[in-house]
Amino acid sequence: MERKLVVGNWKMNGDLVSNQALFEQLVDRSPSSIDTALCVPFPYLAQGQRALSGSAIMLGAQNLSEFDAGAYTGEVSGRMLSDFDCRFVIVGHSERRTVFREDDQLVARKARAALAAGLVPIVCVGESLAERDAGQAEDVLLRQLEALVQLLDGASLARLVIAYEPVWAIGTGRAASPEQVQEILSFVRRWLSGHVGNSRAIRILYGGSVKADSAAALFSLPDSDGGLIGGASLVAQQFLEICEAAA
Ligand code: G3H
Repeated sequence: MERKLVVGNWKMNGDLVSNQALFEQLVDRSPSSIDTALCVPFPYLAQGQRALSGSAIMLGAQNLSEFDAGAYTGEVSGRMLSDFDCRFVIVGHSERRTVFREDDQLVARKARAALAAGLVPIVCVGESLAERDAGQAEDVLLRQLEALVQLLDGASLARLVIAYEPVWAIGTGRAASPEQVQEILSFVRRWLSGHVGNSRAIRILYGGSVKADSAAALFSLPDSDGGLIGGASLVAQQFLEICEAAA
């Protein structure tokens, strides 16, 4: 897709005061030639909805329930996220897969729930360092991607954003090299081609220690449609420079 997408994932960071400052520094300053979104913690969705209203920056969440409604204490449904004008929701982030034991099937059910609520799921996939060193990176991705096909038809798959996030590059300061990233992005693109009509219409992002100085090379890769940014999205100037690199 021609228009790139840069998504900030604030993870479990921020408070009302620091968020407000960050929202205000970002609003009206992200480049208009790209799409930008911020995925904030649940309690700050209302604040994000207010702060971003009328701005081009879209709001997103970092997780959702696989269920629609009912006796599921502590869960947050896709419909609730839509109530706060969320456009995106991250699904299957490696921190959810490893710390909260979310498996491929649950991630697929969450992607399905997000689509049913009118949200765009940003489905994260990626291998650990041990898996990469064992030459299993593509096998792991294939397993994660194939679980989606068990539940989603081609039309649903075409509405996803896929984020390639190698676990070893997340929050480590060690971004994957452009060559490593392109190899996997093109693998994902080829896989998508086998399941949807026009795989170019589906955005594939890279995430993992993206910084202002590495962003341009990563975003200009043939199969890159933008990035999912963690730590650097918490600093307005850094995030804006990353957005500029995608413009
Ligand atoms: O969702 C974002 C990714 O986990 C990347 O995080 O940029 O801090 O490495 P990071």
